[in-house]
Amino acid sequence: MPAISGKTALVTGASRGIGRATALALAEGGAQVIVHYGRGKTEAEAVVAEICSRGGKAEAVAADLAAQDGAHKLAKQVRAVVGDRLDILVASAGITKAATIEETTVEDFDRLFAVNVRAPFFLMQQLLPILRERSSVVLFSSIAVRSAGGPISAHAATKGAVETLTRQFAAALGARGVRVNAVAPAVVRADRSTFAKTEAGIEFALGMQALKRLAEPQDIGRVIAFLACDESRWITGATVPVECGSKLWCE
Ligand SMILES: NC(=O)c1ccc[n+]([C@@H]2O[C@H](COP(=O)([O-])OP(=O)(O)OC[C@H]3O[C@@H](n4cnc5c(N)ncnc54)[C@H](OP(=O)(O)O)[C@@H]3O)[C@@H](O)[C@H]2O)c1
Repeated sequence: MPAISGKTALVTGASRGIGRATALALAEGGAQVIVHYGRGKTEAEAVVAEICSRGGKAEAVAADLAAQDGAHKLAKQVRAVVGDRLDILVASAGITKAATIEETTVEDFDRLFAVNVRAPFFLMQQLLPILRERSSVVLFSSIAVRSAGGPISAHAATKGAVETLTRQFAAALGARGVRVNAVAPAVVRADRSTFAKTEAGIEFALGMQALKRLAEPQDIGRVIAFLACDESRWITGATVPVECGSKLWCE
């Protein structure tokens, strides 16, 4: 991936799961990567160590994205590391909560929107001054926007909001040469994805997919690396389904 060599990248939620795989993929392509984490300091430091041991450049930064000023604090730290240019922003940090409509509390609802929608919005706002011509932003949607796979209506609504932001940001920033896209994975065998570890979860995922193996975080990370690099320069405002044909069965 020569088109990202020497570029600067921030990956939120890079201490584990898809964010971790994305940080490793971007570093493999030659980018300097800021590995953001919430509580997983040890895990984030291990990602940094892995990148550095392969000759790459990375550092870990912490910020609680559920906090009102979490995105602002993160942006400040990022600017201290990269200065006046951020080439790649991947907002992978996210939470989910399985709960029926009846079970969903106001606190759950607010926290889901705080981490999944408010944080990426204000991170974009705070980093706008250092996003330049050919910078690429990747946000996170989910197949949950287009399928009803379980009791996750509040979570799915956050991802619908992210897809709306993707189009709005892309339209607003196109004139500056900044691209904004989203990825929409289906079931991924990520660290905290308990669903993908149950027999029912695996059966559900494989039943939907065209290919009969569970997605690994790397499967998503490689696509994000493509969206981050100049090879995808004619894609913006898009939500890219990275779900192995799952929608073939959902639509
Ligand atoms: N896994 C799937 O099947 C799947 C499917 C569709 C979409 N997605 C989306 O893909 C993205 C990544 O998912 P994943 O499965 O890789 O997640 P994961 O393994 O659960 O990791 C979540 C990441 O987000 C960070 N995070 C969560 N809450 C945070 C907070 N309050 N402040 C700061 N960081 C916080 C975590 O940091 P710490 O651990 O350091 O606190 C962690 O690095 C999410 O947006 C998710 O909605 C996932």
